[in-house]
Amino acid sequence: MKNPSLLILAGDGIGPEVMEQVRRIIDWYAANRAMAFDVFEDLVGGAAYDAHGTPLTDDTMAKAQSVDAVLLGAVGGPKYDDLDFSIKPERGLLRLRKEMDLFSNLRPAQCFDALADFSSLKRDIVAGLDIMIVRELTSGVYFGEPRGIFEEGNERVGINTQRYTTSEIIRVARSAFELARRRDSRVCSMEKANVMESGVLWREEVQKLRDAEYPDIELTHMYADAGAMQLCRWPKQFDVIVTDNLFGDILSDTAAMLTGSLGMLPSASLGAPMENGMPKALYEPVHGSAPDIAGQGKANPIACILSFAMALRYSFDQGEEADRLEQAVERTLQGGARTPDLMGEEGGTPLSTTEMGDAILSELDASLN
Ligand code: NAD
Ligand code: IPM
Ligand code: MN
Repeated sequence: MKNPSLLILAGDGIGPEVMEQVRRIIDWYAANRAMAFDVFEDLVGGAAYDAHGTPLTDDTMAKAQSVDAVLLGAVGGPKYDDLDFSIKPERGLLRLRKEMDLFSNLRPAQCFDALADFSSLKRDIVAGLDIMIVRELTSGVYFGEPRGIFEEGNERVGINTQRYTTSEIIRVARSAFELARRRDSRVCSMEKANVMESGVLWREEVQKLRDAEYPDIELTHMYADAGAMQLCRWPKQFDVIVTDNLFGDILSDTAAMLTGSLGMLPSASLGAPMENGMPKALYEPVHGSAPDIAGQGKANPIACILSFAMALRYSFDQGEEADRLEQAVERTLQGGARTPDLMGEEGGTPLSTTEMGDAILSELDASLN
């Protein structure tokens, strides 16, 4: 039997720092659980631009298409702010999502009990929180045409186009309903049907699919602005949220802060099934390259580590091993381990990125007894 394959694209800023800890976890699984992966590494984002003049080479794109799963750190940084849009680091990530057709982006927001006091919201609002945001990832205003900056008389106009087809809406809604069936069977769909035609279409198609194929799912609809408010007011009312590319980007950063830190939120971007029946997939933390703390050993590696746990679950059918890793993270936090982003008023000495990795690895060791 061939080993499952992984392509690691660590990227920029804190990307390589947090990915280093994931490498150690991968090695732990090989040594202790007889789970060997064939691991390949390559460049993406600013790192690829520096080496090749493009944020993603065709060769790297082909590798991404050929492996069982891609793990990505983060891309971007101030150094690249003035580059043309077509070669910015972020384009590398967008190209991966588009060409791998990763239409369903799962962004779970779970509040670990040990961090409930640390959220900027009150404990009873976030304690026990477990919601799943399903963000459409390959269409909408991120990719719609026409787009660009144009001259119009003596003015310049910037144009982006929000565009959704029925099949694009239906496939992401289906993935949300399927996930909800394995959770609390409730889906809330968010758009702006009060001002956008694409939102009207979104609402109609999601409702039609529910009525035709998922009568067991409780479906509600909410305007995305009200949804943002409700996420801060009483987030536990939600089970699964399904929404478009741009609203999902914003709502998932909001949800991240409910869990205590952006450094906690993992994600899985899933496409259609491959020959082996598993979905095409890329896993990455929700956070970015954090230029303000890069190179200082301050980054929280948990979002990236939990993204690998999602890979175990969704790409490698290793739900129990994913549970093991998530529980190791939970126990590490219960034990008081904190990177600087998780330090509240109580003070104490923060752990470095590597020390947080050490702490999680020793909880993994303990899980074997
Ligand atoms: P960011 O997520 O990089 O940082 C926002 C804030 O959160 C910063 O204060 C940062 O220090 C903190 N933070 C983020 N991750 C953390 C972690 N793991 N541990 C501790 N603190 C953490 O967002 P930004 O500053 O808006 O963007 C910086 C760059 O990253 C931009 O170029 C942006 O385009 C890019 N970006 C990339 C991705 C990605 O690769 N998926 C996602 C978001 C932003
Ligand atoms: C995210 C990021 C990306 C997005 C950027 C870096 C392209 O913010 O994954 O949330 O806007 O989708
Ligand atoms: Mn984002």
